[in-house]
Amino acid sequence: MAPERPESEELVLAFLAEAGDEFVSGEAISDKLGLTRAAVWKHVEALRTQGYRIDAFPARGYRLAGVPDRIGALELRPLLNTHDVGRVIHWYEEIGSTSDRAKELADEGAEHGEVVVAERQTAGRGRRGRMWASPARRNLYFSVVLRPELPPARAPELTLVASIALCEALRHAGVEAGIKWPNDLLAPGGSKLAGILSELAAEPDRVEWIVLGVGVNVNARREDFPADLRDSATSVLLERGQPAPRALFAAACFTALEEWLDRHAEQGFGAIRDAWRERSVTLGREVAVKVDGREVSGTAEDLDETGALLVRTPAGVERITSGDITLLRAR
Ligand code: BTN
Repeated sequence: MAPERPESEELVLAFLAEAGDEFVSGEAISDKLGLTRAAVWKHVEALRTQGYRIDAFPARGYRLAGVPDRIGALELRPLLNTHDVGRVIHWYEEIGSTSDRAKELADEGAEHGEVVVAERQTAGRGRRGRMWASPARRNLYFSVVLRPELPPARAPELTLVASIALCEALRHAGVEAGIKWPNDLLAPGGSKLAGILSELAAEPDRVEWIVLGVGVNVNARREDFPADLRDSATSVLLERGQPAPRALFAAACFTALEEWLDRHAEQGFGAIRDAWRERSVTLGREVAVKVDGREVSGTAEDLDETGALLVRTPAGVERITSGDITLLRAR
């Protein structure tokens, strides 16, 4: 296990991360953190040996130009300003499924916001028993334990909340993603970038925990996907033509997730429904979905205040609460 990083080194890193693409002077860092200029330099050197790329120019100062391609607590903590999501990070080089581990931790009392992250999954799961391709160090695989004050019937709202957050993080990373109800993030061409798997334990009147498992194809190349997914899956790399730093992307996801979860907890789903609508690539489309063994098809008209999809069919409006929809054609 890597030794803990000294606190002042972590503060220097956090300071540089906060400045983003901007240079910060050695003087500003030493004033702010109460360190000598020599100590700042020593920490910069130590960070470089851990894989951080830090530009240094005498007249301009320091700039964080690259972070190590690892998404452990040591890399993520300085990039995070969250109070719950990712405050505790359980990192694995390899694991069966981060969601299986998160569920175990939830049963053992893990707190709201604890996250399990892995560089690789050997048994990554998608919805409906499908596998989730999880090659090593290419993508982002994490599961977060949530303990919302919600009755079980309202649990599906959290998948929608998470999809807004992921959409925001993907757009920030330069991909104009859209949400396919209920849990998919699609690239502009319609290929899948990310998915969310939601699992819960509940008593009759209250949720005990929810584990949201999130898989985002960040730097997967075409050949990293199983052959049968190559036409329907894509990644940030394939969409932008350049890789994304996974640690920065993970931190953006955790931050957006916390912001939207907080908004949801304070104001309810009705208040953030517009944010979902704006990012949706489902509304206005002809869709088909299997409900209790029968096929429903029609126009996806809206989302109701509980997060159910309202589909207009010749027989009237159907309220769809779960299922895999197929997008048939544009309006
Ligand atoms: C889907 O679109 O079907 C949901 C995919 C969810 C995949 C993620 S990867 C991290 C977490 N661990 C898993 O085994 N699954 C989820």
